[in-house]
Amino acid sequence: MGLLSFTKHKKIKPAKRLAGSIRFPGDKSVSHRYAMLAAIAEGESEIHFFAESADCQSTLNCLEELGVRIKRQGNLVVIEGAGPEGLRPSNRQLDAGNSGSTIRMLSGILSGQAFRSVIGGDASLSRRPMKRVMEPLTRMGARIESSTGGLPPLTIEGGALKPIRYELPVASAQVKTAVLFAGLFADGMTEVVEPHRTRDHSEIALEQMGAQIGRHGGTIAIQGKARLKGCKLYVPGDISSAAFFIVAGLLVPGSDLAFHDVGLNPTRTAMIDLLQSMGGDIKVLKLDILNGELIGNLQVTAGRLRGGQISPEIIPELIDELPVLAVLGTQTEEGLFFHGAQELRVKESDRIAAVAENLRKMGAEVEEYPDGLRVPGRQALHGAEVSSYGDHRIAMAFAVAGLIAEGATTIMDSECVQISFPTFFETLADVTE
Ligand code: S3P
Repeated sequence: MGLLSFTKHKKIKPAKRLAGSIRFPGDKSVSHRYAMLAAIAEGESEIHFFAESADCQSTLNCLEELGVRIKRQGNLVVIEGAGPEGLRPSNRQLDAGNSGSTIRMLSGILSGQAFRSVIGGDASLSRRPMKRVMEPLTRMGARIESSTGGLPPLTIEGGALKPIRYELPVASAQVKTAVLFAGLFADGMTEVVEPHRTRDHSEIALEQMGAQIGRHGGTIAIQGKARLKGCKLYVPGDISSAAFFIVAGLLVPGSDLAFHDVGLNPTRTAMIDLLQSMGGDIKVLKLDILNGELIGNLQVTAGRLRGGQISPEIIPELIDELPVLAVLGTQTEEGLFFHGAQELRVKESDRIAAVAENLRKMGAEVEEYPDGLRVPGRQALHGAEVSSYGDHRIAMAFAVAGLIAEGATTIMDSECVQISFPTFFETLADVTE
């Protein structure tokens, strides 16, 4: 066992080898969408393998505040659909916690409600840009006020919405979803045009629950005034959580890991394609489709990796995996370079700065750009005290770095892993030799 427990900080020791099989907690992105759509559907929805993440609990809390009846038993969440006109105003500010998905996607639904809501979150969320949702939702007819600079909290006066055709200025699945969800309440056909493909869980879930969705190239159309039907839903394992173990399994010599029922939606698997193209031994086995989502098993075996450049076009499809890929870059033959990832600066932390800072603390060389990083390959990492910056993906990326470093690494404020993967350190301990 390579790990020691601390209350707030986690000490990671170099791993000899990783082995075993893992079933990851339910996908965070899919869980948010199922919960929000089940809330405005008619009839009951049973959501199995609902994400354990604190972010998804924030979504459930907001929905309960809006009068939705929710029962949760571990990973089974049962939601009594309130119907399209059934949400009730909350007399308190809705708390999205740390969750950008909650505030942005729920804003779409709140824009269609004939009442006023206020939604905000923690210190990190209060620094994140909201103009990107305010702009299209205002064009649809909602009245939205923010703090100075387009920051949360948002005060949303919803009501009758008109359909729009909206070209997304940034490739963002959250903004796309906000517009599509608002489109459910508009009278007519709402269209969203994406500059680059982003995760399409909303489109799939909307179709599963009875909305009429059209897709052509980068345009997604939704017919308004749809009545969604509650149903039985199963959430795939979270591939963005699996990403840390995929990288660890490839990097720690002699490792062999098996993953079950991982979500393999093609808009989420760019990282697997990239690693395979670098020579990574990742086998995709036993594919299946659940509620319109592709799932499967993965087998990861350690080996040498070439490295290279990540093309800017695929950045939106592996945006959450970039911190751990940067760690991986240090161990490749050619290193890793990417740009076009300015969005990383406005995630739960400034992930470009956080990764660069922590890699330097571990003795690595790294070049930082406004929209990317260059990480030379074949670098030895040294155990160090690194910060999580309160960001779950930074904490987990550097836990992986700790496994391949010389000496012990301490992840400060590691409890933020709860945001997406509360059992991360236990799972890591289970497969570490
Ligand atoms: C998400 C979309 C991405 C991603 C986030 C979850 C989603 O954000 O980084 O973790 O569930 O739609 P953007 O849409 O802002 O790029």
